[in-house]
Amino acid sequence: KDGFSLVVVANRLPVDMTVAEDGSVDWQRSPGGLVTALEPVMQDADGAWVGWSGAAGLEVEPFDADDMRLVPVTLSATEIERYYEGFSNDTLWPLYHDVIAQPAFHRHWWDAYRRVNQRFAEAAAAQAAQGAIVWVQDYQLQLVPKLLREIRPDLRIGFFNHIPFPPLELFQQLPWRRQVIEGLLGADLIGFQRAGDASNFIRAVRRLTDLTTRGQIITMEGHDGKPSRHVRAAPFPISIDSQRFDDLARTPEVQARAKEIREDLGDPEIVMLGVDRLDYTKGIRHRIKAYGELLQDGRLDPSKSTLVQVASPSRENVGAYQELREHVEGLVGRINGEYGEIGHSAIHYLHHSYPPDEMAALYLAADVMLVTSLRDGMNLVAKEYVAARSDDNGALVLSEFTGAADELAGALLVNPHDIDGMKEAILHGAHMDPKDKRKRMRRLRRRVLSDDVAKWSESFLGVLSAMPSRTTYV
Ligand code: G6P
Repeated sequence: KDGFSLVVVANRLPVDMTVAEDGSVDWQRSPGGLVTALEPVMQDADGAWVGWSGAAGLEVEPFDADDMRLVPVTLSATEIERYYEGFSNDTLWPLYHDVIAQPAFHRHWWDAYRRVNQRFAEAAAAQAAQGAIVWVQDYQLQLVPKLLREIRPDLRIGFFNHIPFPPLELFQQLPWRRQVIEGLLGADLIGFQRAGDASNFIRAVRRLTDLTTRGQIITMEGHDGKPSRHVRAAPFPISIDSQRFDDLARTPEVQARAKEIREDLGDPEIVMLGVDRLDYTKGIRHRIKAYGELLQDGRLDPSKSTLVQVASPSRENVGAYQELREHVEGLVGRINGEYGEIGHSAIHYLHHSYPPDEMAALYLAADVMLVTSLRDGMNLVAKEYVAARSDDNGALVLSEFTGAADELAGALLVNPHDIDGMKEAILHGAHMDPKDKRKRMRRLRRRVLSDDVAKWSESFLGVLSAMPSRTTYV
């Protein structure tokens, strides 16, 4: 066997690994959406997945799990600090999310990013069969397409960016902007969440390189007798395993748990819900501020309504995340101090993450779902809420700065910076006419159930496989 016909390269492996004292590896499937999306194609195609082993210095030999080959990449503690926490999550993440937080530019972080990307490229090159498809995922690995093509020009390379691609005026701040563009252009197909992200990218290509573009197609110049090659940049909005959430929410266990949650909350008239990684892009503070003002104005009765905020721990070594946690927890404390009673809190703040069945129960228990990101590539929580509402009930308040807003007609769209507008939308959701609510939810569900994550991966891989494999001379 000369290698795998489909290789996925992502910062994380789709499993959580633990190594026992005798050195044996134990693993559990991690709940991420990408795994569920790719599992069927991986199994059909004889696939391998290259990703970080998940802990500092952890060295694990490639192993088989769920019919795919997992290939762990080892990162040292310093590399985690510079490549993952530093360049990926303290430079690129804030830069690509409208500089909501200030990006830090450090040359030694960039050096680590390049070196780690090189290591991922080598690991992928070693797994791929002749002419195989390699699908690189997300902002942590933007240099892999070019580095991989240098080692293995025979491969068909796809890249998907799960987060926004910023407007040129922001992207230009990056001292290594040209190298990043060239890194991505090593791919044959570059996928983005929204049409706007793809056009931001094309604009950056036009401004920062001498290449010519036409619509979605970029022509790479042939030189030194090399043939030219075309790269396509296009939107492929990601989704979730909608059927799985629909099924889960129909089980008697989940339905009973949803009832129990409402009882435990003291049977309020209105339950609102926020579910996010604890990240400054999610607009958690804006949302809580709007909710607090509604209590203060007397437009929501604290004894009859409650907000459940699930904020799952994320990137806790990065300063901006530590500051955010302080802010959010201070705000929650003040509002609960003001409006809580013995046996009743205005806000139930949960700094945990939960398995899918508990999430489905929370979604079913919530009258109004609040997704108020300041910037978000897609936002899968909005889609999960819709998929779980097989009762056609519930209202979705959704930020217009999410990729999901491009698709989810039927949601109450808000600008999270406009606190007054958000307050009106929250009240609208809470007091919506039941007929209107049902109509909107049905519309949302049609969309989310038909455009699921299997369709997403099939359409990306379909386009990539159909691209001309032979380079053409011009
Ligand atoms: C976003 C990114 C993913 C990332 C996830 C969790 O969704 O697009 O690439 O895996 O956040 O973040 P973490 O840093 O914990 O992997």
